[in-house]
Amino acid sequence: MQMDFIQMILFLLPPYVANAVPVIFGGGVPIDFKKTAWDGRRILGDGKTYKGLIAGIVFGVAIGVVEYVAFSNFLLLLTSILSSIGAMLGDIAGSFIKRRMNFERGKPSLVMDQILFIVFAIIIAYPLMLQTFQSLLSIGSLSLILVITYIMHRIMNIIANILGLKKVPW
Ligand code: CTP
Ligand code: MG
Repeated sequence: MQMDFIQMILFLLPPYVANAVPVIFGGGVPIDFKKTAWDGRRILGDGKTYKGLIAGIVFGVAIGVVEYVAFSNFLLLLTSILSSIGAMLGDIAGSFIKRRMNFERGKPSLVMDQILFIVFAIIIAYPLMLQTFQSLLSIGSLSLILVITYIMHRIMNIIANILGLKKVPW
């Protein structure tokens, strides 16, 4: 049980960092180059930038490097690459869906903001999780991951809001 919890932290840390770092290092050219979709609204919006995307993946993988060195398990590094990329893709997918639903940039959506990034991280890292994080692939562990992720995301965004990094606390 306790081992499972350590496994959970090792798995979650890279995508969490990938998802959080863009708030600090993001900005600049938006991924959608300010283009609009068929519905006349922005494809993704100004909240998704290349700098944020790259910073997220770099820092997420950096955590994976630390885990690799600490546990001398190269698969931890490989998993962090997939989970960090997955987290950023999930975040982008969330903004895409929010724009199609006519949510303005920054408007909160529980599923899109707090849950989708980790769902994508798990789906994309799944083949490696079968090797490295098998214990996390039960319904119980996956449900716990969603609950922890929701709570962590709320806490981190409230902190980011207090620090003045984000205009809104979500
Ligand atoms: N950010 C970024 N690039 C990314 C993701 C995030 O630059 N790929 C930065 C943006 O400055 C963004 C902030 O991190 O405003 C917070 O990210 P997020 O909450 O995901 O974006 P929102 O601005 O809330 O926009 P959306 O409504 O699309 O979620
Ligand atoms: Mg947001």
